[in-house]
Amino acid sequence: MVDNLKRYGVFNSDKVAELLEDYLKPGMHALDVGSACFAMMVGPEGRAIGVDHIPELVETSIKNVEKSAAASLLKDGSLQLHAGDGRQGWPEFAPYDAIHVGAAAPEIPQPLIEQLKPGGRMVIPVGSIFQDLKVVDKNQDGSISVRTETSVRYVPLTSKDAQLRGN
Ligand SMILES: C[S@@+](CC[C@H](N)C(=O)[O-])C[C@H]1O[C@@H](n2cnc3c(N)ncnc32)[C@H](O)[C@@H]1O
Repeated sequence: MVDNLKRYGVFNSDKVAELLEDYLKPGMHALDVGSACFAMMVGPEGRAIGVDHIPELVETSIKNVEKSAAASLLKDGSLQLHAGDGRQGWPEFAPYDAIHVGAAAPEIPQPLIEQLKPGGRMVIPVGSIFQDLKVVDKNQDGSISVRTETSVRYVPLTSKDAQLRGN
């Protein structure tokens, strides 16, 4: 499965793929903020939601997926790509077994914690100049365990206006 992730270019690090592998089994629900597609892993009976706040990027992603092996998943709705503020998650298909955020947040957005399933895992870079890749596990009682996996460098998870201004 990790090989699949690398082949489809979903992650910018092998580490993220390894951290989420067990949370992307067939039938699971996944949310990917800032990119596209866990769909090949969770399969037609699962649900993979990609959210990016730049509509043009979402349109390009959709066109690329339509030409790919995941086209049927897009057609049947098990893969959906939306334009929106990923800091709000995507409540419609919550809770998620796996959440990946591909941009660095100043702190872990509360809506994403709320949309994580008990037993689920979120991998999110946190920080500004100095960033840590955080692994957020939601325990069965709803409590949260957070650990730092490694130092990373991502673009900021920010507002669309700030990103377009280059801030
Ligand atoms: C570096 S790309 C991520 C690439 C890929 N996900 C990865 O991990 O390799 C970061 C993306 O995050 C998006 N982004 C930044 N802030 C966002 C927000 N608040 N909501 C949704 N997408 C956001 C940007 O538009 C950009 O496409």
